Amino acid sequence: MRDFDENNITAAVIDRYKNTPDPRLKQIMSSLVQHLHDFVRDVEPTEAEWGQAIDFLTRTGKLCTDKRQEFILLSDTLGVSMLVDAINHRFSKDATESTVMGPFYVQNPPEAAFGGDISGGAKGDPLYLDGSILAEDGKPVANATIDVWHSDAEGFYDVQLPGLEEPTLRARLHSDAQGRFRFWTIMPRYYPIPDDGTVGEMLKASARHPFRPAHVHFMIIAHGYQTLVTHLFVDGDQYLDSDAVFAVKNSLIRDFTHEAPGVAPDGKNIEKPWRKLHSDFVLSKA
Ligand code: BEZ
Ligand code: FE
Repeated sequence: MRDFDENNITAAVIDRYKNTPDPRLKQIMSSLVQHLHDFVRDVEPTEAEWGQAIDFLTRTGKLCTDKRQEFILLSDTLGVSMLVDAINHRFSKDATESTVMGPFYVQNPPEAAFGGDISGGAKGDPLYLDGSILAEDGKPVANATIDVWHSDAEGFYDVQLPGLEEPTLRARLHSDAQGRFRFWTIMPRYYPIPDDGTVGEMLKASARHPFRPAHVHFMIIAHGYQTLVTHLFVDGDQYLDSDAVFAVKNSLIRDFTHEAPGVAPDGKNIEKPWRKLHSDFVLSKA
């Protein structure tokens, strides 16, 4: 067939995929072509605009390194990451809800002792965080691996700070035989996602702000259970309703209570005001 026009080219392109051996790939490619062509028909880009789009994607790819993933940031800020998350976690009724991973996770963080301090001396309000890892039937999950990471009191992750010798505000913990965990850290702050690249350009051009509300990230891995990637958000944060990556869920917002100087639940004497959070996590069976 020849002489394709705007009415028949979509069917012709989809037809080229008719012999794709993998049925899932065939479905994905056909749907991609259909939606991409419909998008172009809807928007009717000029050739200059299409060139701009290609340039944007090219520059987005060039920004990606082993330390920076601009495409994930693009997926996050377009709400696609959270859409994929929602589609993949439809069926967990009683389990703790998941949310985006984000770009600041570092593989194999340093191990922290039960009840240890992961702040590495970073300045901020001390935070005592404890809870249990539970199955949906309420039974404790022992020896779960709990990776924790969060921003500092100024909204920076350790990987964004030049000159830090040790990883800070990130650690690997383990639940004990009763499923419990606890640790000390400092309060995180809201922060802007990296906005000095193409995603930042897109946000600025659209009059969107780059901020995420204050949160602590968790990735919890336990044998026989689905891995849980989630955050706990600080109640009262000004960005809870306008998170740049659409990742806030009501069930993940917590009251990090203000405590007066005195004795903490682990017997430690804290000489300045501090914050406390008790929060359990419920895992779905694998
Ligand atoms: C984060 O919470 O670390 C994050 C998530 C998505 C994009 C940027 C940062
Ligand atoms: Fe974060």
